Amino acid sequence: MNIVVIGVGYVGLVTGLSLVKLGNKITFLDTDLSKIQMLNQKKPTFDEPELLDYLTNDKTAKNATFCHSYDEIKWEDADIVLICVQTPIDENRDLDSTFIKKVFSSLNGKVANSTTVCIKSTIHPSALQKVLSEVNYDYKDLVFNPEFLREGSAFYDFFNTDRIIIGSENLEKSQIIASLYEELKSEIIFTDPISSQLIKYLSNAYLPLRLSFVNEASRLIDSLNANQSDVLKGVGLDSRIGEQYFRPSPGWGGSCFPKDVMEIQQIAKENNLKLPVMQSISNSNSEHLLWFSKKLVKIMNINNLQKIILIGAAFKENTDDTRYSPTFEIYNILKNEKENVEIYDENMTLDNKYDQIFSFEENALYVEMYPMGNKVKNQIAELNNIVHFRFWDS
Ligand SMILES: NC(=O)c1ccc[n+]([C@@H]2O[C@H](COP(=O)([O-])OP(=O)(O)OC[C@H]3O[C@@H](n4cnc5c(N)ncnc54)[C@H](O)[C@@H]3O)[C@@H](O)[C@H]2O)c1
Repeated sequence: MNIVVIGVGYVGLVTGLSLVKLGNKITFLDTDLSKIQMLNQKKPTFDEPELLDYLTNDKTAKNATFCHSYDEIKWEDADIVLICVQTPIDENRDLDSTFIKKVFSSLNGKVANSTTVCIKSTIHPSALQKVLSEVNYDYKDLVFNPEFLREGSAFYDFFNTDRIIIGSENLEKSQIIASLYEELKSEIIFTDPISSQLIKYLSNAYLPLRLSFVNEASRLIDSLNANQSDVLKGVGLDSRIGEQYFRPSPGWGGSCFPKDVMEIQQIAKENNLKLPVMQSISNSNSEHLLWFSKKLVKIMNINNLQKIILIGAAFKENTDDTRYSPTFEIYNILKNEKENVEIYDENMTLDNKYDQIFSFEENALYVEMYPMGNKVKNQIAELNNIVHFRFWDS
């Protein structure tokens, strides 16, 4: 099929290149010219395992094109348009719909009725309906196909997804989206637009809820001087609870959880619903980031060290995405307390508002923000008078 993918971020680029592998022709469209230029030179625009292989293989060269203007696209030839632009929250914690609104005002009048327009971005249908009525775009034929990939294993996740969710009032167009995935073995749930997005939002509420729970558990374990790995293993071995996704951390962040949790709180508010558990997920994380920061200062002082070095700027391993990264949150908390803190990350150069180091020093507390490879571990092991701290068991 001929598919136009709008937005070449983590979701758009990975989905589109995976669909090339499944035999489709993809035109990628992004208003960010620098990204399109890099992709035309087969250069990855972000760190993601397998991305370089996908960009440089023969199938991609033959079946993928990268454009930066809506006028370059032959819209009449598109069977499917996949919308993958960002849907962040603004400073009032409301959805910032400017990106998706621009997409629909650019598409209006260009796309044939027979083309299936499908939204992979995370957006609540009632918010989208508001946007569409502002730009006079007809809502009823849209298909929602929320995305569940994890940065760091995004290509693996595309081909091994636990489920595929398709929400639409138009069954024919739902089937067209389903046909994209027919080679995959995952279960497909066909549903209405609101239910499809609620599956996405509730998944993105439950996962950080679990992370907040395990972090609260680890604070309790720490304060009672109990054995963290024994306790968490003992709890996780209950098959109703499970051991997966049960690792304590300095805090959770990323481009999706914080905003999706905030949005679910907004949706509850708009509907006069009290959802105290969901309301507390982010508060628990903020509390944990504070607790963790204080713990670091305590370890530094007990060991007579001069500074704290946070290793890893991304929000988790195997990505360079720093959106809502716990590293930055902890850095800011420590800086506000006038503590001596720096960030070590050899894979990226940070904004100069952060003190970044590129080589290791002695007399410091080294904090792994997420599991690092052996290279970093071995380098730290060679230093004198340091403490190497990680909050989970190896
Ligand atoms: N990143 C993830 O792990 C992930 C996982 C699941 C779902 N999602 C959801 O998918 C959506 C996209 O997330 P992302 O992380 O890939 O975003 P991103 O910020 O990485 O990429 C979005 C891209 O869209 C482009 N864009 C913005 N406005 C445009 C326009 N008018 N026309 C063409 N291109 C435009 C931007 O230049 C950017 O390259 C969001 O709704 C997000 O919540 C993200």
